[in-house]
Amino acid sequence: GAVRAAEIRALIRDVPDYPHPPVVFRDITPLLADGRALADVVDAFARLVEADADGVDVVVGMEARGFLLGAPLATRLGVGFVPLRKAGKLPPPVEREDYELEYGAAAIELAAGTLAPGARVLVVDDVLATGGTAQAAVRLVERCGGRVSALAFLLELDGLGGRDRLAGQTVETLLRVES
Ligand code: PRP
Ligand code: MG
Repeated sequence: GAVRAAEIRALIRDVPDYPHPPVVFRDITPLLADGRALADVVDAFARLVEADADGVDVVVGMEARGFLLGAPLATRLGVGFVPLRKAGKLPPPVEREDYELEYGAAAIELAAGTLAPGARVLVVDDVLATGGTAQAAVRLVERCGGRVSALAFLLELDGLGGRDRLAGQTVETLLRVES
């Protein structure tokens, strides 16, 4: 059935001061555990992408929570899935992108040679917060020869600048909340 924002919102648990103050952790575990809600969310993503994205050849999902939504969405769209992993998890050869988080640095990797040249990529993750992770994903996909068609997030946290950091990209979000 049609996805109802309030229903989906109720299945995302806000955990204050986790992993440390003043962060509010957005836990999608209850949503993933609800079969109908999960199917509704994947269908809603598919509809958005089919309407707005300029074609999708492959879904790229960000470790870890982007895997949980990206892989079923890829199946639904009839395309493959490529994991974008935290550094040190994939065997060589890899392409690596370093980026800054709110506290400290991080790096993500993609298996070299996996994206076809010019592949139209849909980047999927659960949450858009500062946009640092997503921006790194865009840079890495482009360096690997892909072209980002759109980025899709379950939840957008307003007020952290994520959408601004992705200026020029097609950004789809199912829910928006104040951060
Ligand atoms: C969280 C979330 C997004 C990212 C959003 O992942 O799942 O990937 O942070 O934050 P940003 O927009 O400020 O970059 P996290 O790194 O906590 O790891 P996980 O997905 O492996 O749990
Ligand atoms: Mg994540």
